[in-house]
Amino acid sequence: MIVATAGDRAQLGQDLAAQLDAEHVEIGTKRFPDGERYARIEADLEGPVVVAADLRPNEEVVGALIACDAAREAGAGHVTLAVPYLAYARQDRSFEHGEAVSSRAINRALSANADALATVDPHMPDVLDFFDGPAAGASAAPEIADALDDRGVELVLAPDEGARERAEGVADQLGCDVDHLEKTRKSAREVVIQPADRDVSGKTVAVVDDIVATGGTMATATGQLYDAGAESVLLAATHGVFADGALKRLEDAGADAILATDAIESSASTISVAPALARAVQQVRSG
Ligand code: R5P
Repeated sequence: MIVATAGDRAQLGQDLAAQLDAEHVEIGTKRFPDGERYARIEADLEGPVVVAADLRPNEEVVGALIACDAAREAGAGHVTLAVPYLAYARQDRSFEHGEAVSSRAINRALSANADALATVDPHMPDVLDFFDGPAAGASAAPEIADALDDRGVELVLAPDEGARERAEGVADQLGCDVDHLEKTRKSAREVVIQPADRDVSGKTVAVVDDIVATGGTMATATGQLYDAGAESVLLAATHGVFADGALKRLEDAGADAILATDAIESSASTISVAPALARAVQQVRSG
């Protein structure tokens, strides 16, 4: 197997190749004067190739599509697209008349260029069905638990029921209690969270979610937990989108740690996503 990545994600590609015991090749990229992108793999490829690419920011979608095409042109017999963050997955249905099912549109475009899709903690597992071929999403819970180890976590909370399974995975590994909060979304930036049922007084609590976007969910949960007497609140997420000043919002809420994987790179992305992405590749390749 060969792993191919463009230069700005060379480290992820090398880490992924190491996890998969595969060779790593670089995808050469440049931009034409009109801003359009170009990709080329000079190496002669054959057999299965994993193209690791981002889908965020938006124009990286173009980069991922043409990287898959470059892999085929270079001789790949089978292309697995490995995207650490499956963008647009939160628009997975038409909530109002006439709204695009953006996740379906993106996955269709990916399907036209890749034979298989591997990702980490997709927002909803069902969105993988929009990909027209084998697709798998692996959980980054083991790596998040590793990052929280030795921090004295006594309770892991999911901010809503949908995030509970991931929180359970983290709590199991840490050997501590787990629960979920009740969240109601009021707007893109604002959520209401009911006080935790559990006694959090004097405890170190970790809140674990898939995505931090505006930080509204995590900041509100943090405030609730401190109001309820928590001693320390640690925040961890697979995908640190951190839109709209989210990191500052979380710091202002008093979070004692903000941890994320490098599925999206930021100052908080201290956890490598490569092991989870490798598990997803292995899962999709083994059928
Ligand atoms: C929602 O269901 C997701 O799991 C996250 O909780 C959500 O995307 C976080 O968004 P924000 O940071 O904007 O509250």
